[in-house]
Amino acid sequence: MQALRVERLSGDLSGVTLADLPLPVRAAGEVLVRVRAASLNFPDLLMTQGGYQFKPDVPFTSGLEFAGEVVEADPDSGFTPGTRVMGGNKTGAFAEFACVAADKLSPMPHGMDFPAAAAMGAAYSTAYTGLVELCGVQPGQWVLVHGASGGVGLAACDLARALGARVIATTGSPAKRDRIAALAQPEAVILAEGRFRDQVADITGGALADIVFDPVGGDVFDESTRCVAFGGKLVVVGFTSGRIAEVSTNIPLIKGFSVVGLRAGEYARRFPERGRAIQKAITALAEAGRITPAIDRTLPLSRWDEGFEAMAGRELVGKMVFVPGV
Ligand SMILES: NC(=O)c1ccc[n+]([C@@H]2O[C@H](COP(=O)([O-])OP(=O)(O)OC[C@H]3O[C@@H](n4cnc5c(N)ncnc54)[C@H](OP(=O)(O)O)[C@@H]3O)[C@@H](O)[C@H]2O)c1
Repeated sequence: MQALRVERLSGDLSGVTLADLPLPVRAAGEVLVRVRAASLNFPDLLMTQGGYQFKPDVPFTSGLEFAGEVVEADPDSGFTPGTRVMGGNKTGAFAEFACVAADKLSPMPHGMDFPAAAAMGAAYSTAYTGLVELCGVQPGQWVLVHGASGGVGLAACDLARALGARVIATTGSPAKRDRIAALAQPEAVILAEGRFRDQVADITGGALADIVFDPVGGDVFDESTRCVAFGGKLVVVGFTSGRIAEVSTNIPLIKGFSVVGLRAGEYARRFPERGRAIQKAITALAEAGRITPAIDRTLPLSRWDEGFEAMAGRELVGKMVFVPGV
């Protein structure tokens, strides 16, 4: 089968190659899935460089998440051949077939196609865990979402809006503003540059943001400490800027806000019941047409390098989806 292998860690994708591998052998408790679509996440890029917190030994098959059809499963797994599922387990999604533990899979929402299901899982569960589980977002609250063109950022905008919050989206790329506005339908899209706190104050009538959702870090995080309302929450989601920011503890004290660390995958592992509830809630919102994953483009897996380079080059608005076997 076709599989995207990371043979060697490098900063320029030279250690990544499309290989022909034997089909994976299913162990007890696992489900063998024919992958129909798999989406690219920023951690996939980081893992080709050894720059992510999870560091698999090389060689490994890249890819965090996929959607596909069950080929083979244990009779008591709850899955039967042909069931349309989505899920993943940190690696192995960028291949024609994948074996994952049954508890890492969920049924796809009714009426959703494979690319949308592959694009939805990690981004929306990250957004839901941050906004709902950790911050208890409420209708009418102001939510400031950074990196809003990204998979996670767009999902956070879409979900917050679906739950009745008022969204301000930010981007570091001026050319993406109109596309973000069309997809996320926020109250405003602003540039995350310099003193953007004044714009947040203007838009919110001085109230500032109840929740700041930050996948970018660095200077954007620093300025975000000035954008949070008293009693608000600043959610640390990631560091796409490349700099992990530091905050003096007197700032959250004086301004009365909390800095909240988000680890969506770990949250679901530690609280499996909550993890299942999150998946159910996202599926219900998708089936009701209240959230829609945004896909920038779909490519055959044979053109994986274009996809990885587009993400590294910050070209995408929404998710990159690969179709294996073509
Ligand atoms: N905490 C968790 O549980 C969790 C779970 C999943 C992902 N994450 C993290 O969330 C972050 C976003 O992941 P993603 O898959 O949504 O990535 P993505 O689709 O590539 O989006 C990242 C966005 O960050 C912005 N950005 C700002 N500075 C950048 C830079 N120097 N290089 C590249 N992008 C930059 C870009 O938006 P603009 O061009 O619009 O500024 C880009 O669209 C990553 O750090 C990832 O590790 C965290």
